[in-house]
Amino acid sequence: MKKILIIGGSGFVSTNLIKYIPENWEIFATYNCNSIKNQKIKSFKINLIENPKEIISIIQKIKPDYIVDTVAFPSVDLCEENHLLADKLHIDVTKIISKISSKINSKLLFLSTDAVFEGQLNKKYLETDIAKPVNYYGYTKLKAEEIILLASKNNVVLRTAVIYGANDKSRFTNWILSYLREQKTVDPFIDQHNSPTLVDDLSQAIIKILQNDISGLFHATGPTCVNRYDFALILAKEFGLDSNLIKPVTSLEKKQVAPRPISTCLDSSKLEHSIDFNFKDLETGISFIAS
Ligand SMILES: NC(=O)c1ccc[n+]([C@@H]2O[C@H](COP(=O)([O-])OP(=O)(O)OC[C@H]3O[C@@H](n4cnc5c(N)ncnc54)[C@H](OP(=O)(O)O)[C@@H]3O)[C@@H](O)[C@H]2O)c1
Repeated sequence: MKKILIIGGSGFVSTNLIKYIPENWEIFATYNCNSIKNQKIKSFKINLIENPKEIISIIQKIKPDYIVDTVAFPSVDLCEENHLLADKLHIDVTKIISKISSKINSKLLFLSTDAVFEGQLNKKYLETDIAKPVNYYGYTKLKAEEIILLASKNNVVLRTAVIYGANDKSRFTNWILSYLREQKTVDPFIDQHNSPTLVDDLSQAIIKILQNDISGLFHATGPTCVNRYDFALILAKEFGLDSNLIKPVTSLEKKQVAPRPISTCLDSSKLEHSIDFNFKDLETGISFIAS
């Protein structure tokens, strides 16, 4: 029986990932503020900012075949305002986890981001393109990637983006849908482009990577390159909501603390070929969550 440890098991991706884990795997997971109710999972509470080294004994006790590390600050702006906290959770904790993981020969899979790229319109980034983050969130995630990939040749880094799904933790889709349902206006950016990723696709890809023992750096996003305004329009159409309530805004008009790249769409064909899997385009993904 395989053993999998999900660090950050209470988060958005992890909650979905758990649905796709084969029945005969033993599941362990950590959480911080949000406890894990699923009876099939042995869970451990840990605050990785306050007690980062506690993760060492948890990993040593379980000796998992696979570790999936999803812990991160979701807020790009928080990382920009508090470098020390971002360094602690994204860099220092990653060093601790990757060191103990390689010592006991666990395969470690880490979720990274399209924010490692500077951003360029009409381009889909490949794994071979040079990373050059424009904000501190992207910088710390890039440092973490380097640590993970150096620690063991069996490790995996997946760069993903704007994850969405039928889940109350799906931030962008929930904002748009809840406002439109209440007849309130929304103002998504028209000048920030990404490749939105269906959380169910990402979960299935992670399981295939582990089962096939694939290693290295991969992009793991949907194929559609879209700005947030057009994303919102597609959502409104699929859910039968009033698209007149969607007002486009530019990054100049609505200031954010951290700078954002203009377009960080990713090409995920390397991963798709490696695991014989296709990520859904945005229309198909949205009709999946609407069904
Ligand atoms: N969501 C996206 O659109 C997106 C896009 C690109 C990349 N990613 C990457 O994908 C990964 C997963 O994203 P997600 O949306 O699933 O994240 P999430 O829902 O915010 O989950 C984060 C997890 O980290 C845990 N955590 C946070 N601070 C912690 C701390 N101090 N100590 C211990 N645990 C802590 C949380 O625990 P509690 O909830 O129990 O506090 C939660 O389980 C992240 O690495 C993120 O950078 C996400």
